[in-house]
Amino acid sequence: MNLIDTLQWRYATKKFDPTKKVDQKLVDQIIEAAWLAPTSSGLQPFKIIEITNQELKEKIVPIAYNQRQVAEGSHLLVFAAWDNYTENRIDTIYKYTTEDRGQEPNRYKDYTDRLKKSYLNRPANTNFEHTARQAYIAFGFAMAMAADLHVDSTPMEGFDSEALDNLLGLKELGLKSVTMLPLGYRDQENDWLVNMKKVRHPKKEFLIEIA
Ligand SMILES: Cc1cc2nc3c(=O)[nH]c(=O)nc-3n(C[C@H](O)[C@H](O)[C@H](O)COP(=O)(O)O)c2cc1C
Repeated sequence: MNLIDTLQWRYATKKFDPTKKVDQKLVDQIIEAAWLAPTSSGLQPFKIIEITNQELKEKIVPIAYNQRQVAEGSHLLVFAAWDNYTENRIDTIYKYTTEDRGQEPNRYKDYTDRLKKSYLNRPANTNFEHTARQAYIAFGFAMAMAADLHVDSTPMEGFDSEALDNLLGLKELGLKSVTMLPLGYRDQENDWLVNMKKVRHPKKEFLIEIA
């Protein structure tokens, strides 16, 4: 399958077969794809929380307005973005950068000073909106990787993020949940969406060409 066929195959799964478990090796690859996603200034300002505990997944169902995919997928990935930028958060990734590339520690100081001047003087919420946008790119990568591995998934932002943050203790980690991605295998017989045509705006309306 090429990527377009794969993206035609994937859909926002409404019902997983709860008896089918995704192999951990495949989940690891899905997470790796998200890990490899590009981020603004390379800050990678988010984390993924991987949940397999059934009891915990069941507790998340009401937080997700009773969407059962959360509990019926074998793995639930929560994408959680930094609640704000801090000096330490910016310095940490640039410390890894210079170490991994064998560069002198101050190699990117002018650049990080500029970032700090701009980001640390903005409201926390403006920064969170920025970190969340980075998480969404990785979320897209994870979805595409899952489809490439023939693993079904549901992109989800239909949940009470504050309630989820409280349940998972994300506030203490300086994180806020942004999206969730349950992973599993479609219930071919009982998912009402499984055979429905994909609907998008007509391409000629979607694309604005400037020659
Ligand atoms: C950011 C985002 C949030 C979404 N939230 C939900 C959700 O909470 N529950 C759900 O069943 N589908 C959710 N969807 C799925 C969309 O409704 C679906 O992707 C869209 O209708 C296109 O259909 P397709 O993904 O099957 O191609 C979400 C999709 C995205 C990208």
